[in-house]
Amino acid sequence: MQTLRDLPALRTALQQLRRDGRSSVALVPTMGALHDGHMALVEEAKRRADHVVVSIFVNPKQFGPNEDLDAYPRREAKDSSMLLDQGVDIVWMPTVSVMYPDDFATNISVSGVSEGLDGAARPGHFDGVATVVAKLFNQVRPDIALFGEKDFQQLAVIRRMVADLDMDLEIAGIPTQRDVDGLALSSRNAYLTDEERHAALALPRALGEAARQMEKGIAVDAALAKAIGMLTAHGFDPVDYVTLCDAITLEPMHCLDRPARLLAAARMGKTRLIDNIAVDPAS
Ligand code: PAF
Repeated sequence: MQTLRDLPALRTALQQLRRDGRSSVALVPTMGALHDGHMALVEEAKRRADHVVVSIFVNPKQFGPNEDLDAYPRREAKDSSMLLDQGVDIVWMPTVSVMYPDDFATNISVSGVSEGLDGAARPGHFDGVATVVAKLFNQVRPDIALFGEKDFQQLAVIRRMVADLDMDLEIAGIPTQRDVDGLALSSRNAYLTDEERHAALALPRALGEAARQMEKGIAVDAALAKAIGMLTAHGFDPVDYVTLCDAITLEPMHCLDRPARLLAAARMGKTRLIDNIAVDPAS
C-alpha cells in the first residue's frame, strides 16, 4: 500500500496500476476516522474493481464557520493500518495546500438537489462537497466511486453533478451500515456520551416507525409530526428536519405516491446526527 500526499506521486502510482491498459480503479472518498461503514465501501470497491484508492482529506470547504473542522477526528495511523489490512492499493492523503493552492478560485454548485434539508441547514456545505469530489475524480480518474447512502443528499448531489458535467465514471451508493442496535455508523458518533448514544437510538426508531405508518396508509404529515415528537421526547434539540422526499430529486412529498426517502437531521447534545431510510409506496 502506498500513502501519497502530492499529485505527481499519485499520477505515477496510478500509471503503474493501469500499465496493462485494462485494470479498473475504484475510489472511496473519505475524511478519515474510518469505521466499519467505510470498510464496507472498501470491501465493495474491491469486488467491483481491480485496484482500490481511498482518499482521506478533511475538506475545509464543506465545514461552515461554526462547525467542527478543528475538532473533526483525525486518526491517520489507525486509518492507515485498517486500510493496509484491507489490501488497499493507494491511500491518497493530500494536504490542504495541494488540494487548494493559494490561487484556487473555482466553486462547483449543484442547484435544486443541494438546496433543501442539509443544504438549508448548512449553507455552502454541498458546494464544498461537490468541489472536492470533482477534484478527487480528476486527480484519481476512477472507473467507479463508492459513497454511503447514510449521506443520502450528498449522494444525490454527486449523482446530479456527474450527470450534468458528463463525468465518465459510475457512482455506487452503498446501504448504510448500522450498529447492532440500529444506530447508523458515523465518525460523529464518537462525540456522543454513553447517555446520548443511548438516547440517539430514537433517530432510527422514529424513522422506522414513521416509514411503517406511511406504508400502511397513514397521512405523511401526521407520521412526520409523530416522528418529530418522538425525537424531541428523547432529547434531540433542535430537530432540523424530518422530511419525506422524492428518492431521486429530493423534492418534498406530502403523499406517498412514488419511491421516497425519509430523511432526518437533529442535534443530540453537541452532535448533529443524520439518518434516512427508503419508503416504498408498493409495500
Ligand atoms: O462523506 C464524506 O466523508 C465527505 O463528504 C466526502 C465525500 C469525502 C467529501 O469530502
